[in-house]
Amino acid sequence: MTIGIIGSGGLGSNVARVLAKKGISATISNSRGPASMAALIAEVGPMIKAGTVAEAASADIVLVAVRWESLPKLLAGMPAWNGRIVIDGTNPVEFLDPNAPKDPTNPLADWGIKAIDLGGKYSSSVFRDMVSGARVVKAFNHLDVNVLTQTEVSGGARVQFFSGDDAAAKAEVRQLLEAMGYFAVDLGSLEVGGALAQLPFGPLAGINFIKI
Ligand SMILES: NC(=O)c1ccc[n+]([C@@H]2O[C@H](COP(=O)([O-])OP(=O)(O)OC[C@H]3O[C@@H](n4cnc5c(N)ncnc54)[C@H](OP(=O)(O)O)[C@@H]3O)[C@@H](O)[C@H]2O)c1
Repeated sequence: MTIGIIGSGGLGSNVARVLAKKGISATISNSRGPASMAALIAEVGPMIKAGTVAEAASADIVLVAVRWESLPKLLAGMPAWNGRIVIDGTNPVEFLDPNAPKDPTNPLADWGIKAIDLGGKYSSSVFRDMVSGARVVKAFNHLDVNVLTQTEVSGGARVQFFSGDDAAAKAEVRQLLEAMGYFAVDLGSLEVGGALAQLPFGPLAGINFIKI
């Protein structure tokens, strides 16, 4: 089972850190190419390889860890998914310029983000339409990335929600989350679970649970 990560920012790099800590190999990529990840690779060690987007995208399980606005261009250039698993780690938010004046009508301004209007659709359905032929599982999206590396805390395991419409794909993602040290909780279908844990307004988004 091979793992690819597209995006080496807050989300992609922290997932790579956890994988490396647990001895699980993966290929990570970003828009600038493998050389730009030299510092990360030096930090995490040999289990993580810096690769191209094409290399990461050819894995059995591919985590998409880019900003929402980057998705259309990125996903338009992908090879056929042929039933491979794509983990949607994204949220439909726009990252604001920290130097821009605060918009008083934006309830998320203090977090430096703004919700993107999807016309009432849940984000994983929009994402799923961009990765036709893949089996989509939503995961890694609902926690602040800074807590991801603390998988075992307070005598328990950090809860990671996941959701999806394909039972076999979800079973594989559950196995991966558990191997990473999380307590994996299946929230059901993409429509139900995706919406529950989706940032910014899902009722389970941003809530840290620890399974004792
Ligand atoms: N930040 C959080 O706490 C958090 C929590 C949960 C979920 N998320 C979600 O996770 C996603 C990523 O967030 P982030 O905080 O990790 O963002 P980030 O730090 O800005 O990282 C984005 C990464 O995407 C890469 N990228 C952009 N376009 C690309 C392309 N065409 N091909 C390959 N790589 C590309 C960037 O490459 P370069 O490095 O080369 O620029 C960068 O490594 C977002 O959808 C966000 O909503 C974030």
